[in-house]
Amino acid sequence: MFERIERVPGDAILGLIQAFKEDTNPQKVDLGVGVYRDAEGNTPVMRAVKEAEARLLKNESTKTYIGSHGSPAYGDAVLPLVLGADSPVLEAGRASATQSPGGTGALRLAADFIAGELPGRGIWVSDPTWPNHHGLFTAAGIALHKYPYVDADNRLDFDGMLAAFNKIPEGDVVVLHACCHNPTGFDLSAEQWRTLLEVVRERRLLPLIDFAYQGFGQGLDEDAYGVRLFAEQLDEVLITSSCSKNFGIYNERTGCLIAVAKNAEQMENVRSQFAVVARENYSNPPAHGGAIVSEILHDPELAAVWRDELTEMRDRVNTLRQEFVKALDPYGLAEKYACVGEQRGMFSYTGLTPDQVDRLRDEFGIYMVRSGRANVAGFSRENLPYITRAIAVVNGV
Ligand code: LMR
Repeated sequence: MFERIERVPGDAILGLIQAFKEDTNPQKVDLGVGVYRDAEGNTPVMRAVKEAEARLLKNESTKTYIGSHGSPAYGDAVLPLVLGADSPVLEAGRASATQSPGGTGALRLAADFIAGELPGRGIWVSDPTWPNHHGLFTAAGIALHKYPYVDADNRLDFDGMLAAFNKIPEGDVVVLHACCHNPTGFDLSAEQWRTLLEVVRERRLLPLIDFAYQGFGQGLDEDAYGVRLFAEQLDEVLITSSCSKNFGIYNERTGCLIAVAKNAEQMENVRSQFAVVARENYSNPPAHGGAIVSEILHDPELAAVWRDELTEMRDRVNTLRQEFVKALDPYGLAEKYACVGEQRGMFSYTGLTPDQVDRLRDEFGIYMVRSGRANVAGFSRENLPYITRAIAVVNGV
């Protein structure tokens, strides 16, 4: 049977990890997969995470199953982080969290829930979006559609997005990026979120908000603006949250699917379906990442250490964005790439073409996604002159 199986190319983002490892160029730079890097190019274990793990190791008394919804302590910690400590949604008992294997696991839970319980609804993703959105919603059997997000001049196309939303069939699902849009780095302003809310409400669309980078844009609360607005103003919202990036625990697979319903009873009904989907997919989520997050967030002192380090990480990335644009000035390219200074989060849709990206990889050992998405956390003061000179060369300067 297997002789008929065709080999497919590896994942366009994760494949870069291996390709980068194998490159022998001593000046190589990894701007590929979305992980944070420090000034030395490392992805460190955060200080609060190390401390939490030491405590867990000391106090752990069992490794028994944690149930399909995961750890209640983790849910109790993440819900106020996402929805706000004084959230009226939490006060009304309208929201619950189901722990999942990473943000991707949460998205797949949401996808299977939509396919099974809300059949016939299409799902709309931004063009462009994180490529895995395409794969996982399609794999769940949901019809996938795109709405415009970026115009031909590589700017946020909010008018185009709004016009498309006004034509989406009532009841369909719309996927929104809460902050640090992946791959573009273009985020909605508070005013744009409010405008969008009215269309979503009027057309009775179901928002599925992907919240993978909380804290990497402008701040933990600032980045949650759209999420909290929608959760408070709408009866029904799905939110997929990830702790991979903001706690730096990528390989612990720590996320959750949050259901916001009209009332506590409907929320419990929806939540019961999440447990079925989780059971059918992987039974129980892994425990360790959720235990780390809950250990940190339930201890105000440790939480403060975590917040401080996250702030350092965010500030570093935002500073490097400005330094990148400045370093392009001598080549007359600062204006062309000014968008990098305005975008937020780890990613920038640079406007580099696939051919230019290929040249950067082949001639300079600089790796990024062929769409022109660069992980700007891979910039450093040391490598910026090299990167900007390479960009000048592929621009013919
Ligand atoms: C990325 O977009 O680079 C990250 O979200 C990692 C991934 O799983 O693709």
